[in-house]
Formats: sequence, structure tokens, C-alpha cells
Amino acid sequence: MDIADSRLVGRYLPSSPDYRADAPTLADSLFVFRATAEFQAALAFLPTHIDCLIQGYTTPGNAEALKSVLTDLGAESVDIVAVDKIELPKVYQQLGVDMPDMEFHRADACDLGDRFGDLKFDLVVQDFIINCLSPNSAPALLAEARRHLKPDGICLISFSADAVPPDSVALVTASVRALGLDFWRPGASGLRDLATSEAAFENMASRLMGMSLSDEDTGRVIHVTQPSGHFEFFIPQPEVVRMLEAAGFSVSVADASAAVDYNGLACNRYRVIARPV
Ligand SMILES: C[S@@+](CC[C@H](N)C(=O)[O-])C[C@H]1O[C@@H](n2cnc3c(N)ncnc32)[C@H](O)[C@@H]1O
Repeated sequence: MDIADSRLVGRYLPSSPDYRADAPTLADSLFVFRATAEFQAALAFLPTHIDCLIQGYTTPGNAEALKSVLTDLGAESVDIVAVDKIELPKVYQQLGVDMPDMEFHRADACDLGDRFGDLKFDLVVQDFIINCLSPNSAPALLAEARRHLKPDGICLISFSADAVPPDSVALVTASVRALGLDFWRPGASGLRDLATSEAAFENMASRLMGMSLSDEDTGRVIHVTQPSGHFEFFIPQPEVVRMLEAAGFSVSVADASAAVDYNGLACNRYRVIARPV
């Protein structure tokens, strides 16, 4: 098992040494969503049995939190399918956590193929997965959400955007370009994906671990998360909205709030509801 996967999941587990209480979970997002008029109005149009797809699943309690909110608000039954690129059953077993009551598929959320056949979902959830993907991969992620949604379905999407790194750790455009690395390559989700050897990884890690790379031309920011070297991607909110619209959604922002993410970056957290147009 990849130790980086176990540390990523550990970030969301109170029993783990890697736990970060400030890492937002789907339960946190649902707490915000359910207080909004937009969310309550959107749910009123869903059927009494709700088929859900979660693209990117880390926190074990997410499935239960989603079922509980939907049944509180009137659903009679809820089925959940979740996909993640991590081999979650193994990671959970290693961390001493039970698999939630849901159907799990290890898969690339940007390319789900035909594993779900004609099954379409009433509700598709993306809770901060956008921040784990190159913005060049995000259109494929959103296209999969759109393809798997019923015509009357809705998408709940949470993401952090508009990051402002502290000057002390920011590398700006020119120095990022000078590194000659394609941080934005689709599918690149950390330093390991850019390194051609262990020595190259160690070299990059010694220079970039814990840094924020800021592209002043586009307003995009990448944070290189310690200790795994995984990237967190932050792009300006209007760019995310444009991508959603290009994927065939109309977008309503249910909530926007200022936050400091667990890497110390000031950003805004958005909870949006996307509907197929
Ligand atoms: C920031 S975490 C999600 C945290 C979320 N708030 C939660 O509580 O589950 C993002 C998740 O998306 C997964 N992920 C990132 N890129 C993916 C991809 N292309 N396909 C499937 N899962 C992906 C990661 O493995 C991780 O589990």
C-alpha cells in the first residue's frame, strides 16, 4: 500500500497521527449546504429514492452523513456509489476503519468508462476533489459528473479557490517556469508524478516541499503538501464556474466563505449546486 495514500486518509481520521481537524469533510460541507435555501429547494425536486455518486471519497463517515441529511430532509431511501483512485478498503483496513455502507469502485473519477452501464444518478457529489486535480484534468472530471447525472439530478460541489500564499513560501511565475517542470500536466497530482527517478524526487522535494507555486498570469496556485509531495490546486472561482458551464451545467453558489486551509493558505471555500442545462 502507498504510504502517501494512508497519510492522506489519516488526515481525516481523528485516531491517526496525521489527523487535521481543519481538513474539511463532506459532513462539514453538508452542514453548510443544508442551511441554504438553494439546497433545500434543490432537494424538493429529487425522488424519494435517491441514487448518489460520490467522486473522491476519503472520510469514512461521509456516506452516513449524506444518508442522514437526505433522509432528514425527506428521502425514504438512499443508495451510495463512491469512486476513488485510492484502494480504500485496504487503506481503511490498515488504519483500523470499517468500510462504510456503500458500493465502492477504485477508479479514476475523470474516466469512469462504462462500469455503471446505464445507471444514472440523482445526486453527484464532489467534495474538494477539484483541489486534488490539475485544472487541466478538471474538465474531464466535470464531464463524467454530467454524463452520469439524470436530467433532473443535481451536483453538490465544494472547492477551495482564490488562494493567497504567504510571501515567505510563495514561488512566483518566473521561478516556477525556470524549474522546467509541467506542474499542470493532466494526471500529475504530486512531485512523484513529475520525478523521473528517486534522486530527482528527493531533489525536487528538498526545494519544493511545503512551498506554494503561484502563477501570477492565471491566478492559479499549487501547494506542495508535506510530507507526501501531493499537490493541492487552487484556481480562481470564476475559472471553476466557467469549467462547470462548459461541461453543461448551470451553477448557483449556495455558500462562499473565507478560510485558511490546513497548509496555511488564505482562500475562499465555495459550495455550489450545479444542474444540467
Ligand atoms: C481532498 S480529498 C476529499 C476530502 C473530502 N472532503 C472527504 O471528506 O472525503 C480528495 C479525494 O479525491 C481522490 N482523488 C483525487 N483525484 C482523483 C481521481 N482522479 N479519481 C478518483 N479519486 C481521486 C483522492 O484520492 C482523495 O481521496
